[in-house]
Amino acid sequence: MASPDSDDPRPPCAHAQFDVGSTDDSLSRMVQDGAEFGDIYRVHAPGRNSDTWVIADPDTIKRVLVSNYRNYTIGVGLDRVRILVGDGIIVSEGEVWKRQHRMMQPMFQRSRVERFGQLIADINRRRLASWAEKAASGEMLNVTRETSESALEVVLRATLGADFDRLLGDLGANPFAMLTEEAARDLRFAFRFRQLGKHIESVIARREASATADAPRAADAAGDGDDDWLAMMMAARDRRDGSSMSHRELIDEVMSIIVAGHETTAAVLNSVWYLLSQHPEVEAKLHAEVDAVELADLRLSSLESLHYTHQVILEALRLYPPVWVLTRRCIHADRLAGYQAPAGTDVFMSPYVVQRDPQHWPEPDEFRPDRFGAGAESAAHRFAFIPFSAGPRHCVGETFATYEMAIHIYQAARQFRLRCAHSGPREMEARINLRMRDDVLMSVERRG
Ligand code: HEM
Repeated sequence: MASPDSDDPRPPCAHAQFDVGSTDDSLSRMVQDGAEFGDIYRVHAPGRNSDTWVIADPDTIKRVLVSNYRNYTIGVGLDRVRILVGDGIIVSEGEVWKRQHRMMQPMFQRSRVERFGQLIADINRRRLASWAEKAASGEMLNVTRETSESALEVVLRATLGADFDRLLGDLGANPFAMLTEEAARDLRFAFRFRQLGKHIESVIARREASATADAPRAADAAGDGDDDWLAMMMAARDRRDGSSMSHRELIDEVMSIIVAGHETTAAVLNSVWYLLSQHPEVEAKLHAEVDAVELADLRLSSLESLHYTHQVILEALRLYPPVWVLTRRCIHADRLAGYQAPAGTDVFMSPYVVQRDPQHWPEPDEFRPDRFGAGAESAAHRFAFIPFSAGPRHCVGETFATYEMAIHIYQAARQFRLRCAHSGPREMEARINLRMRDDVLMSVERRG
C-alpha cells in the first residue's frame, strides 16, 4: 500500500473501477472501499477517464471545504442536479455563485427565518388533523409520504406565499406534487420538473404587472406576499452594481430552493420517526421534553431551547445524511493528507462514511442522541460531522431546515406516538439524496 513517504505520491487505488457518485451502488462501494483502503484512496472512474479521490479524514475534509476552498470548484457530482435547476445557486461556480450568494444569503438570516414559524406551525396543524383521524380509525400513516408532502408544502408556501393557493386554484392541483408522488429521479423526471418553471414565470409576470399597476416602480415588484422568498429575490439588488435577477435567474433559484429544501428535510423527518419508533427510551426522553414546555411563541430561540429534540435531529442527520456525498474538483495541484493531487482531481467526501467512522464515533451504527449533549463525543472533531457541509458553500438553509424540523417534531410528538411493524435497519437508496428505499408505514396512537 502506498504511503506519503513512498515513491508513489498517490494514495492507494481501489481494485474495482467505477464512476463514484453515478452508480446506484456508489455508497455501499464507498463504505466497503473505505474499510479496506482507509481515509484516502482513489478509484478509476471510466466514464470520466480519470481518478476520483475519496477522502474521509476530517483534517483533509477541512482543507478542501474550508482552509483551501479557493482552490476548488464543486466539480462533477451535481450534474444530475444541474438538469433540475439550470444555473441555480446549488450548482453555479465562481463569480456567478458569488453574486447569487450575496443576493440570497440575507433571505436565510435568523430574523427572516423566524417569520416563517407561524406558517410552518399552521401547515403542521392542518396536516396533524389527518393523523388524528388515522389514530381514531386505525388506518396506517405513510410517514414517508406525509413528511414529503409536509416539507413540500412548507417550501412552496415559503417561496410563493399567497400565489401558491392561486396556482392550486388555477390548475386544480399542485403542479409540484410529482416530487412526492414519483420516486424516480431520472432524466424523464428532470425534464418534466424543468417544465414547471413556466408556472413560476407566470407568478413573476403577475407580480410585476400588479406592482406596475400599483406603483410604477418595478424595483419594488414584490407582489402580495412581500415576505416570501420569491418576493425577496425579486426585490434583491446586488450591492456591487445594483443589478436585479432576470426572469431566468429567478426561475432557476426558485427551482433550486425547492430541490434543496424539500427532499432533504423530508428524508430527515422520515428517519426521525422511524428511529424513534425503534428506540422507546429515546422516544420517552423526547416526550418528557416536549411535554414539559408550553411554547407560547415560535421564536427560534424558544425552539432551540428544546435541546434533546435537537440532539435527536442531529443524530438522525448523522446516521442518515440526505446529502450523502460532497464533490469538489481542485483547480491547481494540492497536497492532501501528504499525497500530491494533480490539478483537476475530483475529490469526493461522504458525510455518511465519515459520520459512521468508528475512529470518531464509538458504536457508530447505534442511534444515541446523547452523543450531541454538552461536552459529549460530538465535540471530538468538527469535520467528522458535515451533514450541511462546511465552508462558504455550506447549506444556506440550515437554520430554516432545523427550525422547520423542530417545530414539526414538537407539535406532532406532543400529541402522537408512531409505531412501526417493521424493525431493524432499513434498506437505503443513495441517488440524488439518501433516502429509505421503501415507504415507512406506521400506526398512529394518540398520547395521553
Ligand atoms: C435537513 C435538511 C438539509 C440538508 C441535510 C441540507 C444539506 C445541504 C448540503 C450538504 C449542502 C452543501 C453541498 C456542498 O457543499 O456541495 C447544501 C447546500 C444548499 N442548501 Fe441545503 N440542506 C437542507 C435543507 C435546505 C433547505 C430547507 C434549504 C432552503 C429552503 C436549503 C438550501 C440550500 C442551498 C440554496 C444550498 C446551496 C448553497 C450554496 O452553494 O451557496 N437546504 N445543503
